[in-house]
Amino acid sequence: MDRKTLRGRDYIETLDWTTEEIDESIGLAGELKERFTRGDPHRLLPDKTLFMLFFDKSTRTRNAFEAGMTQLGGHAHFLDADKTQVAHGESPKDMGIILSRYGHGLAIRHDLIPYEGNAFMREVARWAEVPVINLQCDVDHPTQTLADLMTIREKRGEELRGLRVAVSWAYAPSYAKPLSVPQGLISLLPRFGVDVVLAHPPGFDLMPEVRARAEEAAAAGGGSIRETNDMDAAFDGADVVYPKSWGRLDLFTDEVAALADAKRYTDWICDSRRMSLANDDALYMHCLPADRGFEVTDEVIDGPNSVVYDEAENRMHTGKALMALTMASN
Ligand code: CP
Repeated sequence: MDRKTLRGRDYIETLDWTTEEIDESIGLAGELKERFTRGDPHRLLPDKTLFMLFFDKSTRTRNAFEAGMTQLGGHAHFLDADKTQVAHGESPKDMGIILSRYGHGLAIRHDLIPYEGNAFMREVARWAEVPVINLQCDVDHPTQTLADLMTIREKRGEELRGLRVAVSWAYAPSYAKPLSVPQGLISLLPRFGVDVVLAHPPGFDLMPEVRARAEEAAAAGGGSIRETNDMDAAFDGADVVYPKSWGRLDLFTDEVAALADAKRYTDWICDSRRMSLANDDALYMHCLPADRGFEVTDEVIDGPNSVVYDEAENRMHTGKALMALTMASN
């Protein structure tokens, strides 16, 4: 495909892009990864500015995009939403139009309040004259899942038809984590023929409308989504396991109640017994940060099946590809 067709495009959910466009992004990410590894300059966005507005904390996403933009020859501004007039109620329309006049791209993380973040960034995108990239919302974490898909392909090859991936809830005491990663995984992987088994305790269902859209995309792509309340059953025979915590949708505004409820399921942990149910060479994946000792044991996350650091590294290469494809001017 002609990469120029992606110029000026928003990237808010992976479902907004065709599988060919997703393939193209991963292809460019691979090229940029090689150039970075060789130390070859690749200033594809000289003098361009990306504004990154964060309503939540970040280690990987912020730094992957900030370092990535520097390597592309541009600059990424970090904006703490609390320190902008958005915190005083400035509208997404005004913010989107004005920042568009100062730079060449807008990236937003707004993930902690169900049914707010995606709507906010779609409103910004409606008015912005530059591409809008979703750095995680309540619905999707599309820069994460692109890196996950790239990592799975690096380890298991391009053809993923029939690959079995267990996306499972796991217990974490730290905070009620967004639903966007499991929702993003079920929305993306089955489009490439992957069979996903989604496991969670009763009550930890994903957003029903996201689940329905993912099901439609799976049918079109040849993959599948099967749901279970049994973590062991999900791990049984899996080629990839992706156990992570997320909050209960109906308790998101009451973190104390949410964490107390989750405590009933402390046995939902990825340990060596559970890994032994999966295939011997099964990949252990996690978007990070992980609650070590709760979501996963050190033995597993630091063990031979874990690819978490490759995943985290690929956040930068895929992020650079997305910026280069959407923000280039010629
Ligand atoms: N995986 C991920 O999005 O990490 P951060 O929250 O650190 O950005």
